[in-house]
Amino acid sequence: MDSDEDPILPIRSTSSTLYQNLKSFFSLNSSDASLNEIGWKKASTVILAVLFICGILALGLSAIIWVVYDEFDGGSRNHTTTTTTPSPTPSLKRIAGVYTSNESKDSTNVQLEKLTHALFAFIRMDENGTLYFKNEKSKNRFLSLRNKAMNETADVKLMVSIGGPNNAQFFSGVLADESRQRKFISSIIAFLKEYQAHGVDIFWKWPTESEKYVFSTFIKNLRDNLNQYLLSITVPPAGIEHHTFGFDIDDLVQHVDFLNVYSMDYYGPWMNEWGTPTGPIAPLYSGVKERENFNLDYTMQYYSSQTRRLDKFNIIIPSFVRLWKLVKDAVEPGREVYRNVILKDNMTEGDAYMSRRLAEMEGWKLTPSMWDEQSKSSFIYDPDQGTYLTFETERSLKAKMDYLKEKRFGGVWIWAVDMDDENNTVLNFITNQNLFSSHDF
Ligand SMILES: *[C@@H]1O[C@H](CO)[C@@H](O)[C@H](O)[C@H]1NC(C)=O
Ligand SMILES: *[C@@H]1O[C@H](CO)[C@@H](O)[C@H](O)[C@H]1NC(C)=O
Ligand SMILES: *[C@@H]1O[C@H](CO)[C@@H](O)[C@H](O)[C@H]1NC(C)=O
Ligand SMILES: *[C@@H]1O[C@H](CO)[C@@H](O)[C@H](O)[C@H]1NC(C)=O
Ligand SMILES: *[C@@H]1O[C@H](CO)[C@@H](O)[C@H](O)[C@H]1NC(C)=O
Ligand SMILES: *[C@@H]1O[C@H](CO)[C@@H](O)[C@H](O)[C@H]1NC(C)=O
Repeated sequence: MDSDEDPILPIRSTSSTLYQNLKSFFSLNSSDASLNEIGWKKASTVILAVLFICGILALGLSAIIWVVYDEFDGGSRNHTTTTTTPSPTPSLKRIAGVYTSNESKDSTNVQLEKLTHALFAFIRMDENGTLYFKNEKSKNRFLSLRNKAMNETADVKLMVSIGGPNNAQFFSGVLADESRQRKFISSIIAFLKEYQAHGVDIFWKWPTESEKYVFSTFIKNLRDNLNQYLLSITVPPAGIEHHTFGFDIDDLVQHVDFLNVYSMDYYGPWMNEWGTPTGPIAPLYSGVKERENFNLDYTMQYYSSQTRRLDKFNIIIPSFVRLWKLVKDAVEPGREVYRNVILKDNMTEGDAYMSRRLAEMEGWKLTPSMWDEQSKSSFIYDPDQGTYLTFETERSLKAKMDYLKEKRFGGVWIWAVDMDDENNTVLNFITNQNLFSSHDF
């Protein structure tokens, strides 16, 4: 700001000296000696008028820049003026919910009335950036969701998510090629128009460090073409390999409406050494051995160090149940939530994403559960059967919601609304915790 004003202000305040200087400057360089004093007065009047107008313009411009800057910087600086009365409980701006393309349970009106955003995951893309539904089931589930989201009783924005764990392989090629990128963007817009959705989520798991610039440029291009449509991106957990290296967060944050942080899957019944030990799906704090940073707090501290727009981040809330079999002793005494798992041919046995409904149908009881204070998470270990379940409970959700509000992150995204139980236990807990929602103001 200062650099904008410096060249103008001194000139205005010393205009008479300037007049003299200008006069001698022109006299020295002018070969036309016939310029008389009256001519000079006229010329200087014009020059001063121009300078005056420049000064006014500069002031106006800097005022505009301040307003825009305030807009972008919202919440990070202390405002001494025009502060609204702060709500006693900081409320979440967003309660977003994912709907999968393949679960058995359809979306319901009751769920949609509680969400601010419904994210359909996933729409697939091909090597040319053309979008399509994976199959008829996926399309029908989407259409059913779309029809309910259009019900006037639901004040929800419907978005489609592109990519994800199993269909991110074409981002590199499509984004690197200008004409394919353009095709991809027009394919997105055509899709949103045709299906009357409100926006798109880009879930590239995950760009590499060398693709950072390409990704930022793509997001900016997409934003420029989306007009009124919403745009979000899904971003990785920090502290795992180089997952975050392809994201220029401070740049991206300016072009998206919000960011969904995929802060989960730190432990799961995966292959090889990744399948052991057991651990919470989305621990708030803590970790074990080389996974000591595998938690929500570490990830959010990382994002907080990259940008001040914390209100743009949604934190993931898993609504499903995770099961391991062949589970043995704790990795260390006192760390009961982390337990060794027996691998057979480098494979683990279990179910990484079991809906609560399915867990109930298969007779898994989710109460009473055990509590790990360090990670603030719940689990059930059955030493006789060697089974281990982990999932969110009222207690673990309360810890996450308190964390969110204390740190003033903007919202949550539930993975996934259709993996909850019949009673929408996880969704209800979150909406009940958020009585002072932004709708109230
Ligand atoms: C903003 O205000 C809070 C509470 O009054 C204070 O703790 C904090 O230091 C202030 N930050 C700045 C940058 O002035
Ligand atoms: C849905 O697809 C995901 C990813 O392929 C898979 O992990 C999950 O088990 C599927 N769910 C159902 C109910 O088939
Ligand atoms: C709209 O929502 C209301 C309230 O949930 C429900 O009773 C009604 O059937 C819905 N209409 C449609 C067309 O889904
Ligand atoms: C992509 O475009 C090329 C060139 O037009 C075409 O040969 C190819 O079949 C397309 N791929 C798909 C999956 O449609
Ligand atoms: C298990 O995986 C390791 C590498 O992680 C490999 O060296 C080993 O051969 C695998 N064993 C079997 C039985 O596949
Ligand atoms: C759902 O609510 C009903 C009625 O309160 C209750 O009987 C049932 O156990 C609940 N189911 C689950 C999975 O919580």
